[in-house]
Amino acid sequence: MQFSKYGNKYTKISGISSLMQDLGSALSQESDIVFMGGGNPAHIDEVYKKFSAQIQSISTNEESYKRFFVNYQSPEGNLEFRIALSKLLSKELGYPISEKNIGLSNGSQSAFYTIFNILAGEHADGKFKSVMLPMIPEYIGYSEIGIEENFFKSQLPKIKLLKDNYFKYEVDFDNLEVDDGIGAICVSRPTNPSGNMLTKDELGRLDLLAKKKNIPLIIDCAYGLPFPGVVYDKKENYISDNTILVFSLAKLGLPGCRTGIIVADEFLIETFNNANVAMNLSTASLGPGILTNIILQDQLIPLCRGTIMPFYKVVRDEILDYINHLFKDINYRIHVPEGAFFLWIWFEDLPISSTDFYEILKRNGTLVIPGEYFFHGLKNNDYVHAKQCIRVSYAQSVNSIKKGLKIVYEQYKNLFIN
Ligand SMILES: Cc1ncc(COP(=O)(O)O)c(C=O)c1O
Repeated sequence: MQFSKYGNKYTKISGISSLMQDLGSALSQESDIVFMGGGNPAHIDEVYKKFSAQIQSISTNEESYKRFFVNYQSPEGNLEFRIALSKLLSKELGYPISEKNIGLSNGSQSAFYTIFNILAGEHADGKFKSVMLPMIPEYIGYSEIGIEENFFKSQLPKIKLLKDNYFKYEVDFDNLEVDDGIGAICVSRPTNPSGNMLTKDELGRLDLLAKKKNIPLIIDCAYGLPFPGVVYDKKENYISDNTILVFSLAKLGLPGCRTGIIVADEFLIETFNNANVAMNLSTASLGPGILTNIILQDQLIPLCRGTIMPFYKVVRDEILDYINHLFKDINYRIHVPEGAFFLWIWFEDLPISSTDFYEILKRNGTLVIPGEYFFHGLKNNDYVHAKQCIRVSYAQSVNSIKKGLKIVYEQYKNLFIN
């Protein structure tokens, strides 16, 4: 069989796919391995009860069952859901958003796939444009989108050292070059893996750079505001006539529903919908089915602010205390965890790469994600900091995270004995 360039790209198993398979198979085996690797949201009882009650009510009510499940949704996605969302987002973001500014996808991952390919790659004039990631480390899931080399260009961050073993990334505007070879700028906020919240000022500056080149600023709000709202301190929104905001229902606790939400100008949404029809025909309606009534009854934002965010904050604080106590005699720093549910830990003296450290940790019963995978788009891989970081998810029980971190600590110390 002969494959196209597109087919060939996906015949090869990438580093990231093999890492994901590795994590997946470790999780599916009967073992007591501590799983701090994946991006699954935590099981929160109140959230489970709210969503499962909605599923029950749809499935036992013939009218709602028909509304959401019996017919294909239109290419634009369920209208009732988009109207409810447009009102909620207009209010929360303080910006006029109509249902025509909203597109739906089967998970936000597939929205990124389509949007990146709409904006980057070969253009009508034959010129090639890349997606600019202005501050890596960035979300692993972007890296396999786009079949051409150089689909991404990226910029390393400035590292600001803070007291009490913390550090923070900042956009390195002095070295950031947005030239005619860039088709879009994209950031996740809060950032997966670091938990960084780009400031409003940073977003404003990125947006200005984008506007100057007539390209959009894409903001991945998978963990962000207003929902699921896993943001602990600065609760600043950012939206403009040049942004594409992408939301997801996954981190609310519904990754299985595969619902992504795109908020952008009408022309981009129409283009997105046309591409989405070609790929998916129609979008899944379970997510809209569960969420529509919850939004209409004004229950979504209270659920995020009163249950979901506080749940992660309590765990984050307990785990930070634990690490700061346990790691006392080793050289470590943690990126200030401003949002999402990951700790990004930097071991500046790590004598091996974070990928090799990951293998040792796996053999000893704990799974994390090695830092190198988040530094995509770099021309060479000699950036040492990338090899010194690991990402730890705290979306599990506190006891199991503590057990995993103890293994991290012991294995780290072992590296200096053997
Ligand atoms: C930053 C970020 N963006 C997007 C996604 C994709 O999420 P989904 O396709 O489940 O909506 C994820 C998943 O982990 C993520 O962490």
